[in-house]
Amino acid sequence: MSLQSAFERYLPLIEAELRQALATPPPPLAPFYGMVRYHLGWVDEGFKLIEAKGGKRLRPLLCLLVCEAAGGDPERALPAAAAVELVHNFSLVHDDIEDASPLRRHRPTVWKVWGVPQAINVGDGLFALAHLALQGLAEQGVSASRALTAFEVFDRACLALTEGQYLDLSFETRLDVTVEEYLQMIRGKTAALFAASAHLGVLVASDDPELIAHYHSFGENLGLAFQIVDDILGIWGQESVTGKPVADDIRQKKKSLPIIYALRQKAKGQGLGEIYSKDVLTDEDVRRAMAILDEVGARQYTERLARDYHRRALAELEATGLENEAQADLRGLAAFLIERAY
Ligand code: IPE
Ligand code: IPE
Ligand code: MG
Ligand code: MG
Repeated sequence: MSLQSAFERYLPLIEAELRQALATPPPPLAPFYGMVRYHLGWVDEGFKLIEAKGGKRLRPLLCLLVCEAAGGDPERALPAAAAVELVHNFSLVHDDIEDASPLRRHRPTVWKVWGVPQAINVGDGLFALAHLALQGLAEQGVSASRALTAFEVFDRACLALTEGQYLDLSFETRLDVTVEEYLQMIRGKTAALFAASAHLGVLVASDDPELIAHYHSFGENLGLAFQIVDDILGIWGQESVTGKPVADDIRQKKKSLPIIYALRQKAKGQGLGEIYSKDVLTDEDVRRAMAILDEVGARQYTERLARDYHRRALAELEATGLENEAQADLRGLAAFLIERAY
């Protein structure tokens, strides 16, 4: 209930900050910004305004709520909130190229509509726009030294994200990926930006290193739990929830956590390994792979790990010693992220 009111309070502010980061361009460049706006869910393929179909805006919400929970004015953190959402969207545009995904958020991906070369440009543009948005911290009266720290936190997260994406792709040709390697990969591709979102939020409010460390770790553990839940959705999620076909990750032979776990189970794992060694999977292959996952309890194992990181995230929140409405909303946000799958 209270999370709902946090969404209602903050989403319009986040949207306004994002729109400000994307000021109206002169005519020859209008289609470039049109593609960016399409990805953000504001326009259709012909660049006509539509009812917003963008993402959930989880990272900016996390940033603003952490700022508020730590005693800061969330409006001053809006440039950071816009920056994390823009860089998240940069990563999705490039991720869809890397994964050859035709659909995102129930709509054709940017590369599918305008081709890979222009989609690379759209991603690069979003990356630069994210950095420009973060510069707004100075206008919010954030000191030069804190703003410099903010840029370092932000760029380190961008780098970690790209490292994680590298590892993710490098796993595609391997059948022996360990759970530890998997965790290192998602710590980069997903958890780093969640950690940075929380870190930037608290940085606007406080320079207490312990408080910063707790919120950073809260964001990181939440990001790990979130990606593990996303892996569950990538196999068992309904298209109405994910915006992607059922079992999409299996069809693409992704080494998501349920698969890594199953591959490591003796005989059954070998059976799955044989399926995963084929060039292209048929519907029957996908059905057999799903049956093996069932037989080895891969879903239960994965859900257990997601709950474990969820618990760790809540412990970090507790360790801040703070109790207020925004802190309760953060617990609500954590619950929302985890419950998406079950
Ligand atoms: C999708 O993230 C990519 C992952 C890191 C799993 P979100 O599920 O937050 O994406 P949107 O922005 O809400 O679509
Ligand atoms: C999510 O990648 C992480 C990033 C985009 C950095 P995935 O490939 O696992 O996520 P979806 O399922 O396409 O959103
Ligand atoms: Mg993908
Ligand atoms: Mg990917």
